[in-house]
Amino acid sequence: MTDAIFTDRPRIDARDKVRGTNVYAADVGLPGLLHAMMVPSPVAKGTISALSTEAAMRVPGVVRILTPDDFPVQVPPASYPNISAPPTLENRIAYRGQPVALVVAETLEAAIQGAEAVTAKFATESFAAVIGSPGAKEEHGHELVFGDPVKAMAGAAITLDTAYDSPKQHHNPIELLSTTAVWTGGRLTIYEGTQNSGGVRAAVARTLGLDPALVEVKSPSVGGAFGQKGQIQRQTAIVARAAMLIGRPVKLVMPRSQIFHNAIFRPHSRHHVRLGADADGKMVAARYDAEHQQSRTGTFPAEYHAKTTRLYGIANYGGSTANIRLDTQPPGYMRAPHEHPACFAFESAVDELAYKLGRDPVDFRIANDTQTDPQTGQPFSSRYLKQCLTEGARRFGWERRTLAPGSMTRADGTQIGWGVACGLYPSAVTPAVATLRIAADGSTRFATSGHEMGQGIRTAIAATLIDELQIDPAKLEILIGDTSAAPQHLTSGSWGTASSVPVALEAVSRMRDRVAELLAGRKVAGNLHRQMAAVRRPYLEVEVSHLGPGQNPAAIDALRAGRFAIAGPAFPGFTTMSYIAHFVEIHIEPSTRRIRMPRVVSIADCGRVVSPRTAISQVHGGVVWAFSAALREIGEVDPRYGGVLNNDLADYVVPVNADIGEIDVGFINEPDPLSNAMGVKGLGEVAMVGAAAAIANAVFHATGKRIRELPIRIEQLL
Ligand code: MOS
Repeated sequence: MTDAIFTDRPRIDARDKVRGTNVYAADVGLPGLLHAMMVPSPVAKGTISALSTEAAMRVPGVVRILTPDDFPVQVPPASYPNISAPPTLENRIAYRGQPVALVVAETLEAAIQGAEAVTAKFATESFAAVIGSPGAKEEHGHELVFGDPVKAMAGAAITLDTAYDSPKQHHNPIELLSTTAVWTGGRLTIYEGTQNSGGVRAAVARTLGLDPALVEVKSPSVGGAFGQKGQIQRQTAIVARAAMLIGRPVKLVMPRSQIFHNAIFRPHSRHHVRLGADADGKMVAARYDAEHQQSRTGTFPAEYHAKTTRLYGIANYGGSTANIRLDTQPPGYMRAPHEHPACFAFESAVDELAYKLGRDPVDFRIANDTQTDPQTGQPFSSRYLKQCLTEGARRFGWERRTLAPGSMTRADGTQIGWGVACGLYPSAVTPAVATLRIAADGSTRFATSGHEMGQGIRTAIAATLIDELQIDPAKLEILIGDTSAAPQHLTSGSWGTASSVPVALEAVSRMRDRVAELLAGRKVAGNLHRQMAAVRRPYLEVEVSHLGPGQNPAAIDALRAGRFAIAGPAFPGFTTMSYIAHFVEIHIEPSTRRIRMPRVVSIADCGRVVSPRTAISQVHGGVVWAFSAALREIGEVDPRYGGVLNNDLADYVVPVNADIGEIDVGFINEPDPLSNAMGVKGLGEVAMVGAAAAIANAVFHATGKRIRELPIRIEQLL
């Protein structure tokens, strides 16, 4: 490996995407393909007492209607990794919008018409749709305590006690959820946009009683995922069952309104934060109690408090979690799942404490920096959060800021606010198995675990192979997201690059050794393809596997079985985290009170940057999403009926181009010395973390109003 900074390089799939030739799961066309549509439950809780399919079967083109009777064996949800409802059709209704039937037809139009003609009767039960509804059940989870937070808080010179609220939000990647299933010769093939082809294979096999070896899942390109496509999706096994029963390929593309009701989502969460500082402004104690909405059987933890333990050197820390169980589909992982709401709360509180102390919020953060992980006592492998803050302040021109709220108001009444906040995210890794084949005909084929969701993992892998090997980049094929090509781990949690790129580096080194053996001291001119030809070999192939630091080799078995096999962020002897500092300028129009964000500076410490183009793009996306989370997004639930009212992109408000100003992105670009040979740390999710707090802090600086509930709305600033 060279230590050189990677050069900027276009995405290797950019041309295909622009020309529309990149193939996504729902683009797959197959002879004899049937189309399917789900029938959603109009009630939020109860049991199906009668299901009538006769009228639907009379719709021309309808081939078959699957009902709960087509799933005689129900596998308990506990037997799935990271899932909380059986992914089948059931008579029990646990939430509004749950599928009660699947209509399969020759055309999409017939499937839709058929789905509308299915009628059901229910024995309904009372339900709780939102926090505060009768029947919502509070359930306390685990505590995390280190040091003596009670004593330290009692002895603190200055304390703060405050609470924040983060709303229910829904992933809305442009690629809808879809499944196309093919059953032929006793083998099942599933084409689906997923971040977890290995996990889907395992879960579908278990649900339908199949040997996993007979199931393949293919997800070569995903049109956005962000955690929504990280576990088995509601429709996958149902569509697969339809293909098996009918004996023809079946495709379902889920309408967006059904996605709001059947996919995981970011739960509504509440955060009670207490901070204590000594007279010199050193934070000595923190207490962070969080609770969030949960489904009746869901398992997504409320571990918000644990995430912020590593932001500053606070020696005494306590936190707790709680679920508030409601009758909804399970919530789950959505981009920076805990870190975004947690850093909105915690970094708002830190800003409030800095103001209480009369301290500049950048200086206050730097004064509370640490190089030791307070939670474990071990060193951070690399931490340049202070440098993120100083470089961000320099680029932003922070020294021109005046501290007092409202002090930068313009003559025309426009209120200007400058806010800062930090974010962090664990840098975990997964094991990987890879094969690299270089052929005399000029082609190179690399297969490993990973899913391309638009983040650019193929480009990062390609950068490594092209920089390290003399191969023809035009004939490089990278096979990922395909269980038939290599064992596939869930790609999520910002561990993609740190997992798939080091294994590529290892394959490169093994290939070099093999080529040296083959040449046995001979000097052959030309690139590797020519060398292969010169020694009359059609190709050379190597297989390597890679583990995280200190990771048990049994993790490879878990990878092969489609299970979780994650190492970090606390590795033996060190902790690895990624960091970011965001600086935000907010303008508030004097009459309409509309909030504008003309510029942002975001500086990230994600270790070594392998692919500058896609890394900058990740930070742009993270900042845009944070703007959206801070000022636009909320899933509105009608407590009388359950379900999400604004279940489309017209009413679920997200930013448009005109909302986004300049986003200046910088990287510290220092390799992490310990976590992997490439020196990379995760970037995708940290990009978003803390930016919502920077916006809220800027709104406070502009107006003197501390808004502790997202999204911040115009009416709160009137
Ligand atoms: Mo990650 S929760 O897959 O954005």
